Amino acid sequence: MKWVVLVGSVRKGSYNAALAGALADLAPEGVELEILPSIAQMPIYDGDIEAEGFPAPVTASGEKVSGADAIVIVTPEYNYSVPGGLKNALDWLSRLKPQPLKGKPTLLMSASPSTMGGARAQYHLRQVLVALDAAVMNVPEVMVAQANTKITDGVLTDQGTKDFVKKQLAAFHTFAGRAAAG
Ligand code: FNR
Repeated sequence: MKWVVLVGSVRKGSYNAALAGALADLAPEGVELEILPSIAQMPIYDGDIEAEGFPAPVTASGEKVSGADAIVIVTPEYNYSVPGGLKNALDWLSRLKPQPLKGKPTLLMSASPSTMGGARAQYHLRQVLVALDAAVMNVPEVMVAQANTKITDGVLTDQGTKDFVKKQLAAFHTFAGRAAAG
């Protein structure tokens, strides 16, 4: 199975990028993971740009999502919601035909230094993904709270978090496998 990973932060020292980077070691055997190009490469959505042709970073990410069996979105929470850059990337992807997230098995994760772990962003993200008709797995949820105590120098070090993420990825493997079987 091939899964792509979309990261909602573009910061070098991002906790969410670190979490995304940890997934390859925690995913079930036989899963190949690819981190998608940075969302920073996409311009702000503009219908005039779209009319002239989709920017290359949009089509490139869209093709990778379309070609994957599943997508994992790992994101911070900004002001109780989805970071603008991630929403922008999803807005661009939603304009492609065929729309790459339609029916795609989708997994959400978030990390934050706060005690909420990005929960509010995940629930807003779920609403956006309804519009895209993505097949989002409901449970188990992963919200890495107090991420600054669990991720050190870009590495997920907390064993409890690793164990829980591993369980979520195993459940998602089953979920995505069922979708693939129809
Ligand atoms: C934040 N942060 C934040 N955290 C949170 O749990 N809930 C929130 O509503 C917000 N709001 C927010 C707004 C803005 C504009 C910024 C820049 C930050 C803190 C945020 O979780 C923290 O900076 C993370 O470290 C960002 O994720 P990365 O870049 O480490 O992946």
